[in-house]
Amino acid sequence: MTPAQPDYFTEARSVEAVNGRIGHATDPRLAHVMQRLVAHLHAFIKDVALTQAEWEAAIGFLTRTGQMCDGNRQEFILLSDVLGVSMLVDAINNRRPAGATENTVLGPFHVEGAPEYPMGANITLAGGAETCLFEGRVTDLDGQPLEGVRIDVWSDNEDGFYDVQQPGVQPQHNNRGVFVTGPDGHYSFQGIKPVSYPIPADGPVGQLLARLGRHPWRPAHMHFIVTCAGFETVVTHTFVAGDDYLTSDAVFGVKETLVAACDQVAGGATKWRSRFDFVLNRVAG
Ligand code: BEZ
Ligand code: FE
Repeated sequence: MTPAQPDYFTEARSVEAVNGRIGHATDPRLAHVMQRLVAHLHAFIKDVALTQAEWEAAIGFLTRTGQMCDGNRQEFILLSDVLGVSMLVDAINNRRPAGATENTVLGPFHVEGAPEYPMGANITLAGGAETCLFEGRVTDLDGQPLEGVRIDVWSDNEDGFYDVQQPGVQPQHNNRGVFVTGPDGHYSFQGIKPVSYPIPADGPVGQLLARLGRHPWRPAHMHFIVTCAGFETVVTHTFVAGDDYLTSDAVFGVKETLVAACDQVAGGATKWRSRFDFVLNRVAG
């Protein structure tokens, strides 16, 4: 038997050279994902004929992205968001039948442990002249109301900031709350009519958007995590119909089914009303 040719690295056989080094005992899924990553990465570099200066710029960009990360700021997730990667991973992992409420990106501003309120309560602890009543029902795909559904909500304030972005300026848990449905599956709470806001743009991701002629804005939205035993958890937002950025969301989070009318209420205690019904998909099996 002739000995195997040593697999020296060449431009033509770059993928085989790298992937050929993976050990036989490697976890099969890790081996598969890394082999495909190397194949696509090398194909991309050959496709654009990446220059040395461009390679250095990319390494510098990734280095600055890492240096921007700390316990409060996750610049790599922001990069994933603006490249559409977060939404693509979410779409692949949350395929649902027609009629079930769709997911969208979680975002960096969710906090565990928001206060639980009785149905109808006000989550705005400070500010917020443009009061808005959010309400609707949670049902299964057959339209049966669901009891005991945990609805975790959060939004920005009238200046476009979440409480965690302004500690000491906004009270903790401003515009956040948790509600649990009763037998009728109904939910309601008062907040403010959310406003559009820019994603954090003072780092390398913001610079990248600017270089690409892209704006950093997200259309106005209310965040929801809807959880019920026996059903798939829905991580989503409702978007304010008519917002200027619905078709150019910096993180590609908008889905048509998540756009909810926000109507002005004449003479009511709150100025606006937004109705949205959630439909949950039973966990398979
Ligand atoms: C948000 O909606 O809170 C958000 C999502 C992605 C990136 C930044 C913010
Ligand atoms: Fe948000």
